[in-house]
Amino acid sequence: MVSLDGAKHGRTAQEAKDTLQSLTDLRPVAAVVLGSGVDLLEGLQDAVSISFKDLFGISPQVEGHSGKVTIGVLDYEGVKKPVAVFRGRFHLYEGHPWQAVTLAASCVVACGIPNMILTNAAGGLNLDFNVGDLMVLTGYRDHLSPEWRQKGLVGAVMQEPTDCKNALTEKLIELGQTLHQKDKGFRALRTGVYAGLLGPSYETMAEVEMLRRLKADAVGMSTVPELLTCKGTQTQACAVSVITNVWKPDEAMGGHEEVLEASKAASKRLDKLFREAIITL
Ligand code: HPA
Repeated sequence: MVSLDGAKHGRTAQEAKDTLQSLTDLRPVAAVVLGSGVDLLEGLQDAVSISFKDLFGISPQVEGHSGKVTIGVLDYEGVKKPVAVFRGRFHLYEGHPWQAVTLAASCVVACGIPNMILTNAAGGLNLDFNVGDLMVLTGYRDHLSPEWRQKGLVGAVMQEPTDCKNALTEKLIELGQTLHQKDKGFRALRTGVYAGLLGPSYETMAEVEMLRRLKADAVGMSTVPELLTCKGTQTQACAVSVITNVWKPDEAMGGHEEVLEASKAASKRLDKLFREAIITL
C-alpha cells in the first residue's frame, strides 16, 4: 500500500481547472478517463499534456496507468472536436482519500466540460459475457463510498442499483449497434450494472455469488466515485467497462498481465466507438 503523503499535497478542483485552462485555449467537448491498460485516442492535433503530479499534486501508483492529461483536437472523418484524455485515475485502494479519487471528475465539472466518458477494467459476473467484451453501464452499485463503508455491508446490500442511463449512454449503445451491423468483427456491445468495490483484492467466490444475486453484471474498483461526482452537474457522464475476466465456478483467474492484455485488444474497438461518438458532440 502506498503512503498517503501525495494525497496530502493534492490540489483543489479549482486550482486544477486554472492550470489546465492555462495550458491551451481549446475547450473540450468531452473528457475521457482511461482505466487499467485501456489505451486510445492517440494522435490528437495541437495536443498539450501535463502529468497528474503537476496537475493534481499526486501520482497514480497502478501499473497500466501513465498518469497524464492530454488536451487536443480529435480529427475523425474530417470532423474536428477538442477533447481531454485522462490517462489513469486515483483509486481508494491506493490509500487516496475520496477527495483525491474524485479530483479529476471535479476538475472536469469545474472546467464546464459537458460530457465525461469513463472507462475501466472489470470482471464479468454475467455468465453470458466473454473476455474482451465492452459493457456500457446502464446502472451501478456503490459498495465503496465512505458513507456505505461506514454503514457496513447491510446498507450496501440493501441499496438498489442506481440508474445511469442518459443521452450519452444511448448514443454509445446506438453507435455500437451500427458498428456491429457494418462489421461483425466489431463485437456487439453489452449493457449492464457495474458494482464498484473497494478492493484491492479481487472478490472471493462468496462475494461473486452475492453480487450475482444483486444482479450486477460486472465488478471493478473505480468509476462509481466519478459518476457520483458528475451527478446533478452540467457534466453528463457515462461509462464503459472492458471485461478482462469472467468469474466462472472452478476456473482459475488470470493476473494483472492478463488484465492488461484483454484491455489492449478491446481498446481498439473502444477507440473506434469513442471517435464516432465524440465527433457528434
Ligand atoms: N474484480 C475487480 N476488479 C477487476 C476485475 C475483477 O474481477 N477485473 C478487472 N478489474
